[in-house]
Amino acid sequence: MIRIDIISVLPQLIESPFNASIIKRAIEKKIVEINFHDLKNYASKKRKQVDDYQFGGGSGMVMMIEPIKKCIDKLKKQRHYSEVIYMTPDAPILNQKLANKLSLVGNIIILCGHYKGVDQRVRDKLITMEISIGDYVLSGGELPAAVLCDSIIRLIPGVLGDETSALTDSFQDEILAPPVYTRPANFENIQVPNILLSGDKAKIENWREKKALERTKKIRPNFLRD
Ligand code: ADE
Repeated sequence: MIRIDIISVLPQLIESPFNASIIKRAIEKKIVEINFHDLKNYASKKRKQVDDYQFGGGSGMVMMIEPIKKCIDKLKKQRHYSEVIYMTPDAPILNQKLANKLSLVGNIIILCGHYKGVDQRVRDKLITMEISIGDYVLSGGELPAAVLCDSIIRLIPGVLGDETSALTDSFQDEILAPPVYTRPANFENIQVPNILLSGDKAKIENWREKKALERTKKIRPNFLRD
């Protein structure tokens, strides 16, 4: 069983994606366990303070090191963690290769950033990996953490019913997936390509490869150059 511990000042923002569909099933099957930690419970002062003004001046609050260290230390005393990940836009961007890697490593702690971010000493001393989900800024690291968890969990063996389906996803071989169709074969005179109805497995496979390549060339030409 892989355990993911998510540390956040707004844990309620992230709980619901874990209560549906594939992730919910993975939790029920005991393949993965997700725990949420409210950083405010680790604040030492009575005010439950987890953020403070930045040294040197400037707008925006900074998440303090003490509650974060306390929470991470407590978790690390209980079990081994392979990575302590900080979700932040100023980091390497998540891709399929990284999701594949993280689906194999073991227990993970994910720290969600907020406000102006965390005290740099957290990043320097407590974090082992930083991940962004894209070049845009969200109001916190909670949604990015949910995205990261989804991308990892669906790859853990036994989570998807059909073991091959994660392997044929777009991006898995740095090639996009071909178009797919279902019934009806004719919808308001828009036809499904005849070849898919032909029953000729080899021809269908050829067609899919050709379409996948066309899509990749058009939408992600960088995949073909790498
Ligand atoms: N926090 C805010 N924006 C983010 C992003 N794009 N990726 C990861 N964490 C973030």
